[in-house]
Amino acid sequence: MKHSEWIAILDYGSQVTQLIARRIREQKVYCEIIRFDTPATELKKRAPKGIILSGGPCSVPDADAPKCDPALFDLNIPILGICYGMQLTAQTLGGKVHKGTKREYGKAMMRVTKPSQIFQGLEPELQVWMSHGDKVEVLPKGFEAIAQSDNCPYAAMQDSTRKIYGVQFHPEVVHTPQGAQMLGNFAYKICGCVGDWKMSKFIEENITAIRAKVGTDHVLLGLSGGVDSSVVAALLHKAIGPQLHCVYVDNGLMRYRETEEIEKLFGDAFGIDLTVAREGDLFLKSLEGVSDPEKKRKIIGKTFIDVFAEKARGFAGKVRYLAQGTLYPDVIESVSPIGGPSATIKSHHNVGGLPDDLQFDLIEPLRELFKDEVREVGRELGLPSYVVDRQPFPGPGLAVRIIGDITPERIAVLQQADLRVREEILKMPNHLDVWQYFAVLLPIQTVGVMGDDRTYENVVAVRAVESRDGMTADWYKLPYEVLDSISNRIINEVKGVNRVCYDISSKPPSTIEWE
Ligand code: XMP
Repeated sequence: MKHSEWIAILDYGSQVTQLIARRIREQKVYCEIIRFDTPATELKKRAPKGIILSGGPCSVPDADAPKCDPALFDLNIPILGICYGMQLTAQTLGGKVHKGTKREYGKAMMRVTKPSQIFQGLEPELQVWMSHGDKVEVLPKGFEAIAQSDNCPYAAMQDSTRKIYGVQFHPEVVHTPQGAQMLGNFAYKICGCVGDWKMSKFIEENITAIRAKVGTDHVLLGLSGGVDSSVVAALLHKAIGPQLHCVYVDNGLMRYRETEEIEKLFGDAFGIDLTVAREGDLFLKSLEGVSDPEKKRKIIGKTFIDVFAEKARGFAGKVRYLAQGTLYPDVIESVSPIGGPSATIKSHHNVGGLPDDLQFDLIEPLRELFKDEVREVGRELGLPSYVVDRQPFPGPGLAVRIIGDITPERIAVLQQADLRVREEILKMPNHLDVWQYFAVLLPIQTVGVMGDDRTYENVVAVRAVESRDGMTADWYKLPYEVLDSISNRIINEVKGVNRVCYDISSKPPSTIEWE
């Protein structure tokens, strides 16, 4: 899609480059992360309003350190260098960078020493987050120091005539509390952005773009009921209506009544052409006697492809495009050659591995968006909160939450226990703070008493975690009353369970799922 204004972020491999993009987008300015060595001629053509050089793990004075095209500085486009980006700016423009042996890492107090548009509206003394070994020793010609900290005489620099700025700290992280405002100052005050990045506008423009691309052709989408594919479905439906065909595979390992909910929402309410493949029996049969977690995943993945491919074949000849819920973090991964920020991001949701006879062109309408933007688009399109704010759910479904053999009876027990966990946590006003919450069925029986009788039944573990991205997580400190009602309800209402435990492990070293 073409954007009327945007900021280019050149990625030098920092773990937090993505945060720069998110902080800027949060302020309604579109930005993109692009290769660190993007030629100035290309940037001139794409005419960003500003350029940001990110931080990175390398050392600017090293011969093999990633450099920028020096002609960037002659484009007459405002530039902000962050950490490595500031050092690169200094060295490229004739200053000097000292290769340090000691790292400065953590919070620091910084004093603003000269007025600058970057710090406009902020206090003269600010907390910032430092993470660097090298530092600028001699400023390039035309630059002045605008802030200093105890360890860093050049905590920030500017050449306000050429609109080139550098900060040694990281404005994009939360430990620089006014950092977002500094990035906002750069975008609005220095680059002159107006802030036209709004999801309503994205939807409008994207719909036009989708219609132009698809024309009279048809599109197939594997709908899982997760946030991404649900939003793709709603967006494509709005754009092309009956030319969209969704296939939903019920593998028999979904949460309680999930398939019915999806049919009701997408089939009935939205009126989308929805094919539901109820293949629970097939999946169960192929999982018979399998208790090894990796085997379960492989079997489910392969069976899914087989079922989806068979359904897709029914559309062959009619359908030209396969839609996917690829998000921006997956896209950045492929543009970031220095093993940058997104090396840590997994992509689970692509329908990879379709057989060769099924050749579709791809359509990926969310590939410019971060997850929180996808949610906003979903809300704008009228998707209910239970879809848009849905917690992540693994592709193999409840199979990785049933430890040991998978049988219809054990699936039913887990579905009922899981339903109670969800119902009780959803009653918490701050339930959106809990990243994921679910029940796990253990492969053991324990002794209990029920009235005068001795029972010998299943144990359910409850897992609830807080996390930012699923890569690390901590167990959620659920209030005792919530744990109490979860436990009471499961033991009293779910036949076959007589004990409930709470999982108090964090990731790492544990994982969020049990398998
Ligand atoms: P772990 O268990 O590795 O999970 O800590 C991290 C996040 O990924 C989800 N997850 C999956 N999602 N297919 C998916 O789509 C999978 O096979 C899969 N395995 C784990 C998990 O629920 C958590 O959010």
